[in-house]
Amino acid sequence: MLNFSNTNILLGVTGGIAAYKSAEIIRLFKKEGASVRVVMTESAKEFITPLTLQAVSGNEIHDSLLDVNAESAMGHIELAKWADIILIAPCTAETIAKITHGRADDLMGALILASEADVYIAPAMNMSMWLDASTQDNYKILEKRGITFIGPAQGEQACGDIGPGRLEEPEKIIEFITKLANKGPLSGKTITITAGPTREQIDPVRFISNNSSGKMGYSIAEAAIKYGAQVNLVTGPVSLDADKSINLHKINSASEMLDEVIKCMKSSDIFIGCAAVSDYKPSDYSIKKIKKEDNSSLDIELEKNEDILKYVSDNFSESYIVGFAAETSDVIENAKKKLLTKNLDMIISNDISDKSIGFDADENEVNVITKDETLLLKKDKKIRIARQILKIISANINK
Ligand code: C5P
Repeated sequence: MLNFSNTNILLGVTGGIAAYKSAEIIRLFKKEGASVRVVMTESAKEFITPLTLQAVSGNEIHDSLLDVNAESAMGHIELAKWADIILIAPCTAETIAKITHGRADDLMGALILASEADVYIAPAMNMSMWLDASTQDNYKILEKRGITFIGPAQGEQACGDIGPGRLEEPEKIIEFITKLANKGPLSGKTITITAGPTREQIDPVRFISNNSSGKMGYSIAEAAIKYGAQVNLVTGPVSLDADKSINLHKINSASEMLDEVIKCMKSSDIFIGCAAVSDYKPSDYSIKKIKKEDNSSLDIELEKNEDILKYVSDNFSESYIVGFAAETSDVIENAKKKLLTKNLDMIISNDISDKSIGFDADENEVNVITKDETLLLKKDKKIRIARQILKIISANINK
């Protein structure tokens, strides 16, 4: 199999002397089976012609955010969704700064904001510009957000200076991305993830449940597949589609979830409890629908469900165990308590009193808490938060 078969690569080319190397980058990706589309900034066109990159990629060049014709052919959101991987090579200090500030005044900036693809940046600039505090700060911020930098390489620069700032060689860029994309940081690992709500039936039509769209758990499962893991997703009823490579275990109740989790954990290295498990279930299930005409009020006796996360930490302690804590006050303090009482390796807390994050939202902002540190992952799309969480987990298990 080719390294990048079925992979859509969006190559961003910005204005630097090394832009001429982008043709070779496209050629190498295509040789490995990728489909390549190219976005050029205006200044990139001063260094290499759009016609050259169009001929090598076999696709029309994208260069405008506000062009009606371009938008009708493939709109910027469509293009952002099309990409599995975005590589900006060469990437100038200006584009690095633009991405750091989330600016969208040209196509490249807008695409980065709109896309959920893995983003790689291969910088190329004068060494003093690279080493300047602003660029270095921007670089560190972007790395924290999960963007991967390739280079810059050391050596002689176009201006004669010698130091870091050269575009990494095309072969090395492809080799680097191949290693990360095809042998992710979690390759060889099996992860079991719980997601969504559970339903505790009262009678055939009524149930007790929790608020949960399942988006966070599904995003983690999707990101884990991309990072090379085998993924079991034990999910309550949600209206989401899962990646074909995920082993999906659909359940309704907490006790069904526990049964599936136990089966999966026999061969798992990591457990991530993301589900909003119902803490209680009705003690008795009525086979017949309870008629409201027969009852002016209704008492339902509830009994506690097993805490699945605690069960896993008690019985599969050799695995790396991660819980979630949805809190409305003293978010970090309460989560830290749970980390200890449930004996977890990591807990991820979020503040569900903020309606723009959590449950049904597409974005989240979380604190990743271990015994040693508390790390804030600022508000971002759930898929990006998922990738950052997995990067931290993989760094911790490889410590
Ligand atoms: O104690 P609390 O329910 O707030 O803890 C939340 C964490 O515990 C989440 O990771 C959730 O998936 C997990 N949990 C569980 N089984 C339960 C209740 C919560 O696995 N019965």
